[in-house]
Amino acid sequence: MMHAFYDPLRTYEENLVAGPFGLPDAVVDPPAGSPAAHAWGVPVHSAFGIPAGPLVNAAYCAAAFRHGFDVAVYKTVRTGPHPCHPFPNTLAVHVKGDLDPSTARRPVLADERLAGATSISNSFGVPSRDPDVWQPDMAAAVAAAGEGQLLVGSFQGTRHGGDAQALVADHATAARLVAETGARAMELNLSCPNEGTGDLLCFDTPGVVRVVEAVKGEIGDVPLVLKLAYFASDDALASLVGATRDLVHGYAAINTLPARLVDERGRQALPGEGRDTAGVCGRAIRWAGLDMVARLSRLREAGDWFEVVGVGGVLTLADVVAYRGVGADVVMSATGAMLDPRLGTAVRESGATA
Ligand SMILES: Cc1cc2nc3c(=O)[nH]c(=O)nc-3n(C[C@H](O)[C@H](O)[C@H](O)COP(=O)(O)O)c2cc1C
Repeated sequence: MMHAFYDPLRTYEENLVAGPFGLPDAVVDPPAGSPAAHAWGVPVHSAFGIPAGPLVNAAYCAAAFRHGFDVAVYKTVRTGPHPCHPFPNTLAVHVKGDLDPSTARRPVLADERLAGATSISNSFGVPSRDPDVWQPDMAAAVAAAGEGQLLVGSFQGTRHGGDAQALVADHATAARLVAETGARAMELNLSCPNEGTGDLLCFDTPGVVRVVEAVKGEIGDVPLVLKLAYFASDDALASLVGATRDLVHGYAAINTLPARLVDERGRQALPGEGRDTAGVCGRAIRWAGLDMVARLSRLREAGDWFEVVGVGGVLTLADVVAYRGVGADVVMSATGAMLDPRLGTAVRESGATA
């Protein structure tokens, strides 16, 4: 089956050069009337779009806007060039029902039989081009947003050994570089499992506070959303939100859930060291995204308002409605948009996020 936007059967570099792929010929007219919904506090026609990942450059972001996705997140960038993990990166993950994180050490079958697969792996290692290349490209993506549409710049810092100060400084530099593109909204990826699953920055509240303070020092009033992994612990989530809610515009949840991916003979499915576990997205993690959004919404009730962006396993309009029902202000779909590029228009026309 052909995937839309990002083609899992091609390398990341091929996708960068030749994509986007698999989109319908007809583009969608922008709706009449003023945008009534909001994302990152900015008026949009529908508070629905594609999160960091499938939109690897400006051509992809422009295509998302043309096909009715009113919020497009430019795939996470860094302060310097960073290689992509070896191909393949996106395999079909064969899970029946929900992926349970407590069984993350139990092997899950993953292979290239992508036809019909509603859960996939995401193992890229957050590749980045040099800012000299991605900054003008991200500026072009910003310019591609029509009225009632929003381009969000996603970024993260890069670890240089264990130097905590250097990590804070690198995040601040990345934020400044994104702000220089004219992006009106930003997302800080604190949750990439490819940086080492046990070591996610979002689980280190004092570390996050230092990073967010430095980032805000660079970007001022540009609305900043923190992208989170799934938190098993309510206390840890409450601690992170309590320490950062006055600093940020909101939170996006979730990134992927980790799983140990094996081929049909039980061998590691993705080639290379450190890739025995990889992030899973799509249908199998929907429960975890809904659960995090519900918990973030409850925390919100106990203090000042913040925005909640729901991500994970949104494949249909009904999934969008479910996320809105547990408190998501904005809803995003990566795997679902790759399976059905008409989802943006369907959500916009339904008014589910207006
Ligand atoms: C191909 C692909 C690449 C991704 N790259 C990133 C990334 O660079 N930064 C990030 O924060 N999330 C990344 N993600 C995670 C998505 O933003 C999202 O959190 C996750 O896929 C769950 O949503 P879904 O079930 O709709 O796919 C990526 C996902 C996919 C499918």
